[in-house]
Amino acid sequence: MISGRTGILGVIGHPVTHSASPAMHNAALAATGLDYVYVAFPVPPEGAVQVGAAMRHLGIRGLNVTVPHKQAVLSFLDGVAPEARAIGAVNTIDHRDGRLVGHNTDAYGVLASLREGGLERLPPKVALLGAGGAAKAVLHALLSRGEVEEVLLLNRTASRAESLAEAMDGGGRVRVAPLAESGSVREAGLVINATSIGMEPEAGISPLGDGSVLHDGMAVLDIVYKPLRTRLLEQALAAGARALDGLGMLVHQGARAFEIWTGVRPPVDVMRRAIGP
Ligand code: ATR
Repeated sequence: MISGRTGILGVIGHPVTHSASPAMHNAALAATGLDYVYVAFPVPPEGAVQVGAAMRHLGIRGLNVTVPHKQAVLSFLDGVAPEARAIGAVNTIDHRDGRLVGHNTDAYGVLASLREGGLERLPPKVALLGAGGAAKAVLHALLSRGEVEEVLLLNRTASRAESLAEAMDGGGRVRVAPLAESGSVREAGLVINATSIGMEPEAGISPLGDGSVLHDGMAVLDIVYKPLRTRLLEQALAAGARALDGLGMLVHQGARAFEIWTGVRPPVDVMRRAIGP
């Protein structure tokens, strides 16, 4: 029951109406019995700078932040957690004791989803496709793991991959190449797609062309989750590779945000069921 004491959580984005987060978080709130409600706030790009004042005046307890606001919200925060600082993007704002603190739970989410997929320890060579915001969070996560000796960073625009590698601490372990020259992906024990290739409405294409570089000695994670079964994952399965879809990262980044706000570890399986197939 919503009462005068119910805490408000939510997500800001543009567009945001198709976000899976309200269903996922409200399911976890129902399961834990915590007195919060989670809603979606459509905020146009120019509105992001006013979100801090809105959180303070309305007493909004926590927000997730999605496209296009992940950098803009940095302007009004009172504090930024080290991971969010390193990634340069915030996906979670925690409002407590009058302070707004930014976090990034995407790097946690990708490692948790890999762990769940059987990759407790990562292989020494990882191929990461993409050089946008999503790739930056994944690259930060990979470089935080000492067992990863080399990240092969492939992007359509190679210069963007070069800039990303230079910007990252530990960038000496990153080797950059154009996405069109993906032959060296064969050497990787893990391939992660962090490009938007394969996402609706352009589903059906793979960032690795015909997928002939994939083989049964590797795992393939696609962080695209619409559709869940991407062309890349179909190619991975056909090649005998372990295929991990983007639902795990989505659910685990959400679970970590929930825990930051409430101090309660949410039931991840409930969150997954609320948005899964
Ligand atoms: P996000 O924040 O979701 O990562 P982004 O910053 O727009 O989004 O990055 C999108 C990524 O997908 C980039 O790596 C982009 O490659 P470029 O840097 O060359 O633009 C990649 N991408 C998107 N559409 C692509 C396509 N049709 N072919 C190749 N790469 C594509």
